[in-house]
Amino acid sequence: MKIFLDTANIEQIRQANALGAIEGVTTNPSLLSKEQGDWKKIIRQICKEIDGPVSVEVIATESPAMLAEARDLVKIAPNIVVKVPVTLEGLKTIKELHLRGIETNATLVFSANQALLAAKAGATYVSPFIGRLDDIGQDGMQLVQDLMSIFRNYDLPTQVLAASIRNSSHFFQAALLGADAITIPLGVLFELVRHPLTDSGLAKFLADWAKK
Ligand code: E4P
Repeated sequence: MKIFLDTANIEQIRQANALGAIEGVTTNPSLLSKEQGDWKKIIRQICKEIDGPVSVEVIATESPAMLAEARDLVKIAPNIVVKVPVTLEGLKTIKELHLRGIETNATLVFSANQALLAAKAGATYVSPFIGRLDDIGQDGMQLVQDLMSIFRNYDLPTQVLAASIRNSSHFFQAALLGADAITIPLGVLFELVRHPLTDSGLAKFLADWAKK
């Protein structure tokens, strides 16, 4: 499972990169809007920092304008993946970008049907939003399981990228289901490392050593 960091904050990316764990970054308009300064400069900086795919979302909602934005985005750096919401216009955009050899991340996926159509259109990644489904009382992880089965049934090359991840249990379950990739906030990455027995075990080792 590839691990991406879900942020547009360069300091967070540097902190995660120092752990050697992350292989890409996903941004979205909400995450980018939190950062100060020119968004294109921020994206360029992120793309230099990370040796892997960096997803950046189009803002337009009509396909011709989405395509124009996508053409501008891919000029920023060679590792840009164009994030496109799964709407009728988004699917047209994904199809056109696929024909031009541009990688896409189909975002705001809340059903297996949406994901299957995005895969048919040629999406490189589909991003099921686990946490947001959980928030409305559904089982977000069930969607990942369904996508893994459906994509395997038809041998689809599109990668399942578990998104909207809120905790270490989401991470563990996505890995168990064989998700191709996952995108996590820095807080969840830190949560993955922590274990109370590691902390108490280390404290005991150090205390015993101090008595020597
Ligand atoms: C990443 O691709 C998504 O935009 C992100 O994971 C959404 O997360 P949220 O539901 O916590 O906003």
